[in-house]
Amino acid sequence: MDWNTLKQNCASCAACPLHATRTNCVFGVGNPQAKLMFVGEAPGEQEDLTGVPFVGRAGQLLDKFLFAVDLSREDVYIANILKCRPPNNRDPLPAEEDACMGYLRDQVRLISPRIIVCLGRIAAMRMIKPDFKMTKEHGIWFERGNFAMTAVFHPAALLRNPSQKDAMLADMKAIRARLDSLT
Ligand code: URA
Repeated sequence: MDWNTLKQNCASCAACPLHATRTNCVFGVGNPQAKLMFVGEAPGEQEDLTGVPFVGRAGQLLDKFLFAVDLSREDVYIANILKCRPPNNRDPLPAEEDACMGYLRDQVRLISPRIIVCLGRIAAMRMIKPDFKMTKEHGIWFERGNFAMTAVFHPAALLRNPSQKDAMLADMKAIRARLDSLT
């Protein structure tokens, strides 16, 4: 399957009830050839309205951390576990994640990134391990065949708890260093 077909399939997806309440399917943004991919949780209100991931307050903070390590959205690819917004931004249900993961898997296959960074606990639990503990395990590398994975605090969590911003910056610097070391 090619990129445009995948995007079209996603836009017309009705595999879970969230399709009924979406304004837009939020497929992803950035460079589909990127070596570095970020995966968040699910679209919020602004993302649902615009069809672009991480454009609300949390997204603006993510942009600042990318800028801090000399990266922009054009250098990376950003997607979410869920492509449609859960009502009132509640956590994704396991059945919604199951219905949606195929799109993310196909995105990963087509992009073929070398590094995948989970933004927050929900993505880390789904993609790295079900018992992932963000406070203890953020910034740790998990080697997975063709790529390395790590997880960082979700930018929305940093808005609630700014004391974790130093740890986030350190993790982002380590991610940048690993990106620079790729052959
Ligand atoms: N939070 C996420 O996890 N993803 C978005 O796209 C926006 C906010």
